Amino acid sequence: MQVNLNGQVALVTGGANGIGRAIAFALATNGAHIVVLDIVPGNLARMADELEQAGASYLCLQGDVTDRAGLERIVEQITVKWGRLDILVNNAGINTNGGRVPLHEYLPETWDKIISVDLDGVFNMSRAAIPAMLKGAGGRIINISSVAGLVPLRLQSAFVAAKAGVANLTRSMALEYGPLGILVNCVAPGSTLTQGTEALFYSPNGSYSEKAASLLAHIPLGRPGRVEEIAAAVLFLAAPEASYVNGVVLPVDGGWLAGYNRDW
Ligand SMILES: NC(=O)c1ccc[n+]([C@@H]2O[C@H](COP(=O)([O-])OP(=O)(O)OC[C@H]3O[C@@H](n4cnc5c(N)ncnc54)[C@H](O)[C@@H]3O)[C@@H](O)[C@H]2O)c1
Repeated sequence: MQVNLNGQVALVTGGANGIGRAIAFALATNGAHIVVLDIVPGNLARMADELEQAGASYLCLQGDVTDRAGLERIVEQITVKWGRLDILVNNAGINTNGGRVPLHEYLPETWDKIISVDLDGVFNMSRAAIPAMLKGAGGRIINISSVAGLVPLRLQSAFVAAKAGVANLTRSMALEYGPLGILVNCVAPGSTLTQGTEALFYSPNGSYSEKAASLLAHIPLGRPGRVEEIAAAVLFLAAPEASYVNGVVLPVDGGWLAGYNRDW
């Protein structure tokens, strides 16, 4: 898919790895100036090299979506460099690496950390970015939720609660900012092949590799998503052609949410 984002400035949180990296490349190769915000310096340095080699116009900035003051400084850096901010993708997110337990065994500090990145992070980044977007010609905000935010899963209560929050926050933001020219939508990925899900399920040594087959059995397409497939949905929502799409939560999940994929 090719769209025209020439001259627009796009910010992707958690953009130095996994799905965020694919989103950043999709936006950059369709003409946007790209800002990659991430907490891990090593991945940011690698991303800067890759964007340089691709001939992209970019900024790679270290930052933390839980650091409200830091996010305001980052938006200022962007507007000083390019004078505008048009597209925000709230992608940064974490979950437990293994350690999946019922709620009464959930460590409060794990709960707090996941909510602070996955839900508060969307609030923090949006709050910092929206004034700059309103000064321009409006724009697009695309929040990354999860199928787990739409149909709850067991043993990851913080992630499920945070991602459900992101889906409904998207709708609330769409009501507030649609009239002001900022369209707000959400993509809810299903299980997607990344370093993280390989370490959990999809490599032979993953913490839950014995569960991979049963997980895939619930997906009508029978495979995990590719990061480029998630990025393509984000690209559509960022594109000029999506000018009447607002408040949508779009699953990109191979049909996982379509219904119970029973085997008889
Ligand atoms: N991979 C999947 O199967 C899957 C499924 C559903 C939803 N998602 C969601 O997609 C998004 C991307 O996931 P992914 O699988 O690519 O993960 P990932 O771990 O590969 O990438 C996440 C990126 O976010 C960055 N990050 C983490 N905490 C941060 C913080 N506080 N501030 C700034 N950056 C931070 C990480 O450094 C990393 O680069 C997340 O919101 C995740 O919940 C992923």
